[in-house]
Amino acid sequence: MINFKEEVINLIEAEVDSLSREEIDALIEIPPSYDMGDYAFPVFKLARAFRKAPNIIAKELSDKFGEVEYFQKIENAGPYLNFFINKEKLANTTLEAIKNEGEMYGSSSMGEGKTVIVEFSSPNIAKPFHIGHIRTTVIGNSLYKIYKFLGFDTVAINHLGDYGTQFGMLISAYKKWGDREIIEKDPINELLKLYVRFNKEMETQEDLREEARYWFKELENKNEEALELWTWIREISLKEFNKVYDMLGIKFDSFKGESYYSDRMPKIIEELREKDLLKESDGAFIVELGDDMPPALIMKNDGSTLYATRDIAAADYRKERYDFYKNIYVVGSQQILHFKQWMKVVELMGHDWIKDCVHIPFGMVSLEDGTLSTRKGKVVFLEDVLKTATQKTLDIIEERNPNLEDKEKVSKQLGIGAVIFQELFNQRIKDYVFSWDKTLSFEGETGPYVQYTHARTNSILEKGGFKIQDEVDYSLLKSEEEINIIRLLYGFPDTIIDSMEKDEPFFITRHLVEIAKAFNKFYNACPIIIEDEELKKARMSLTYSVKIVLKTGLSLLGIEAPERM
Ligand code: ARG
Repeated sequence: MINFKEEVINLIEAEVDSLSREEIDALIEIPPSYDMGDYAFPVFKLARAFRKAPNIIAKELSDKFGEVEYFQKIENAGPYLNFFINKEKLANTTLEAIKNEGEMYGSSSMGEGKTVIVEFSSPNIAKPFHIGHIRTTVIGNSLYKIYKFLGFDTVAINHLGDYGTQFGMLISAYKKWGDREIIEKDPINELLKLYVRFNKEMETQEDLREEARYWFKELENKNEEALELWTWIREISLKEFNKVYDMLGIKFDSFKGESYYSDRMPKIIEELREKDLLKESDGAFIVELGDDMPPALIMKNDGSTLYATRDIAAADYRKERYDFYKNIYVVGSQQILHFKQWMKVVELMGHDWIKDCVHIPFGMVSLEDGTLSTRKGKVVFLEDVLKTATQKTLDIIEERNPNLEDKEKVSKQLGIGAVIFQELFNQRIKDYVFSWDKTLSFEGETGPYVQYTHARTNSILEKGGFKIQDEVDYSLLKSEEEINIIRLLYGFPDTIIDSMEKDEPFFITRHLVEIAKAFNKFYNACPIIIEDEELKKARMSLTYSVKIVLKTGLSLLGIEAPERM
C-alpha cells in the first residue's frame, strides 16, 4: 500500500538539508479539515537555514515541487505547506489492499518474535463475578486481540484471586455450616453467604479469626483436607466464571491464579533478604520504598504471604517462563498504588525487566443510581447483565423484524456486542455510567448501529450479486461521500497501531463509528445497484471494503458481526 505520509517526507527531504527524516516526520500535522489538505508541514524550523520569512519559504517550496505523482496539489497557506492526496491513487491503493488482504487488512508482522502477556479479568473465586469486572474483562480481551493481530505472540492470563486469608475463613465457615449439595446448586451465592456469616460472627467471636488464620496456614502447608476443599471451591467458581467467558467468546491461555505462586514465595523472600531489602516492622516484614510511597507489605508475622508478594512471584515466573517483551496488567485504577509498590520492589531487587511490566488502569463503572448494586443492595452479576442485554435485544427484534432467521443467536450477538461496545467507547481511564438505553440503541454511536451497518453492507452485496472483480475503475469513486469513506479505510491500519501503542481500544471503536456514519451518508447519497455497470462495480467494491473493515474492527473489540439482523 502506498504510504502517503512517507511520500510527503520524501518530497521535503529532497529539498531540505537541515532536517532529518525523523525530524520532518515529527513536524507533519494532520489539518483539522480536508479543505486544508491531508497533511500539513509548518516551515518555521527552516527559517534559520533558509534565511527567509516562513511564508516565503513555504511559497518557494510549493512552487519547486511542481507536478508530483502522489499528490494532486501542494499549496502553501501562509507558513504551512498543505499536501492534497491524489484521490485516484488513494482509492486504488486502499481498495486493492483490502481486496487482496481481506480480513487480514490492517494486520502486521511488527510483533514477530515478541511475546506480550495480557493479564485481565482475574476475579476472586468464591465471590460474585459482577458488573465491576466487566471493564478489565472486555478491555483486556480487546488488547489481547489487537496485539495478536499485529503479529505479537500473545498470552492471555487470568490471575485468579484464589489465595489469601479469606480462604482460611471460607474453609472454617464451610466446616461449621456448609453443605456440599446446597453449595453445588448455586455455588457463588452460597459461598458468599458463608463468607458473610463468618465475617459477621467474627465481630463477636475473636477465636474465629484465629481459626481462619489456622486454616489458611494449613492450606499453605498443603494439609490434605484444606487443599481438597480449596480445590473444590476453585473448580465450582471457575465453572461459573466460564459461563460468562463463553458468553463473551473469551478464551484464556492460562488460569494460573495467585495460589500458583505460593511455592515460589520462599525464593522471593530469600532474594529480598539477601539483597538486604526486607525489614521487620511490628513483627511483619516490609520493604521500604522511600518518601513518596508507603512500604510494601511482604510477609505477615505468622509467615503467610500477601497479595503484593504473590504479584512479585508471578512476574518473576512470567519472565522465566515467557521471557516477555511486555507484560500488561489490566486492573482498575484503585490498584495504582499497589502496582507502583510491588513494581518498585522488583526494581530495587535489580531486575531491569520490570520496565516491561505495565499496569493499564481504567476508571469505574457504576449503575445509574451511582452504585454497583441494585437498590435492594444486591450486586449485579455480569451473567445477568449479559442475559438481560440479550433479552432486551430479542424484544426489539421481535418488534422490528419478527421474521428474522436465528433470532436467538442474533440477539445474543447484538446484546452482548452492545455491552462490550459501550465499555470500549471511551478512554479507559474515564469513569462511566452504565445505561441500558444508551447501550442498546440502534441509532447513534453504539454497537448495534455499527453491527447494523455491517449487516446493511452485506444485504447490498447480496442484492447486487457481488463478486470480487479483477478490474475495477476506482477513479469513478470521486464524490465527497465516497472519498470520505476511502480516507477512513486507509487510516484504519494506523488506528490499530495507535490502539496498541497506547493500549486504548477506544480508538478502534471511534474509528468504526466514523466509518459506519460515512457509509450511511454515502448510502443515502449514492445509489449502488444501478444500470451503469462500471460505477456499480466500483460502488460495490467500496461497500465490500467497508464490510471487511467493520468486521475486522468489531472482532478486534471482541464483538461479532452478524450478516443479517
Ligand atoms: N483479583 C484481584 C481483584 O479482584 C485482581 C487481580 C489483579 N491482578 C494482579 N496481578 N494483581 O481485585
